[in-house]
Amino acid sequence: MTKPVEHLPDGFIQAFHQNDAAIRDEVMTGLLAAEARVAPKFLYDALGSKLFEAICELPEYYPTRTEAAIFARYLPAMAKAIGVGVTLVDLGAGNCAKAPRLFDVLAPRHYVPVDISADFLRDAVAQLKCRFPDLPITAISMDFSSAMALPDAVGRDRRLFFYPGSSIGNFAPDAALAFLRRLRAACVEGDGGGLLIGVDLVKDKRLLDAAYDDALGVTAAFNLNLLQHLNALLGADFDVRDWRHRGFFNVAAGRAEMHLEARRDVCVAWPGGRRRFAEGELIHTESSYKYTREGFLQLLEEAGFVASRAWIDERAWFMVCHARAPH
Ligand code: AVJ
Repeated sequence: MTKPVEHLPDGFIQAFHQNDAAIRDEVMTGLLAAEARVAPKFLYDALGSKLFEAICELPEYYPTRTEAAIFARYLPAMAKAIGVGVTLVDLGAGNCAKAPRLFDVLAPRHYVPVDISADFLRDAVAQLKCRFPDLPITAISMDFSSAMALPDAVGRDRRLFFYPGSSIGNFAPDAALAFLRRLRAACVEGDGGGLLIGVDLVKDKRLLDAAYDDALGVTAAFNLNLLQHLNALLGADFDVRDWRHRGFFNVAAGRAEMHLEARRDVCVAWPGGRRRFAEGELIHTESSYKYTREGFLQLLEEAGFVASRAWIDERAWFMVCHARAPH
């Protein structure tokens, strides 16, 4: 997707536009497929990003706090592997809560938060600028899932791509490999550099089922909010009350899945299209692949990264990896 890049004041670059015809096409194609699907990036409108923040506070949703504990414990070792003075490119920065915890030890020269949700990012960055007035910040609103075309303002200094939270799980393994290869290439565009990435590990189904279908229904709200986002994006007429959340770990496929299930026969229309859903029919809204330590380290190697290291919590629920891109 090529988009006009428009420069706004104060280091904010907006390269993703919600009203883009390509975006609407992508969504419509998914809705009209025999097995309807919508890419998980569409979960993150302004409200969706807030609901995801709430998910991270849930007792059942272990990844965020497990990853934070790994960082708290091993940050000095990570910093040694990474080195100081990088351009820290924060992929899916969201509320920018994670990267600033690295600032003290990594002393980045430039911070580049990237997120698809422009409004959310703009607010988070405004607050960061007060906290770190001396750190150059270039915020970029873009969809990095299909191409890693970073604007020139990112510069050519050594880059550290920071991709925490196990968002890599949203790619199917072959797509994850392609994505990691694009990252490795984007590292070398600068002066070497590397990747610091959070990866969720395969574990007991009961833990994963609960993490993707919590008792309070916050994950359900997060998933259902996608329909409101589609109404805004397409001018569709989804009635949220016609749908229910499904979230569970698919053991055979090695991934958590979210779906929206029609509670009754419904007909959904938007300018230029319509679709009937029978009661019980599903829209697949997210896959979240879980890895083994060895499986993910092999993926990094296949993508051309070297000198990979992994840090894991004592329950072996989550892993943070650093890997270098050879020059
Ligand atoms: C942000 C993609 C890592 O897959 O666990 C949380 C999103 N979905 N609850 C994940 C999510 C349902 C999350 N990632």
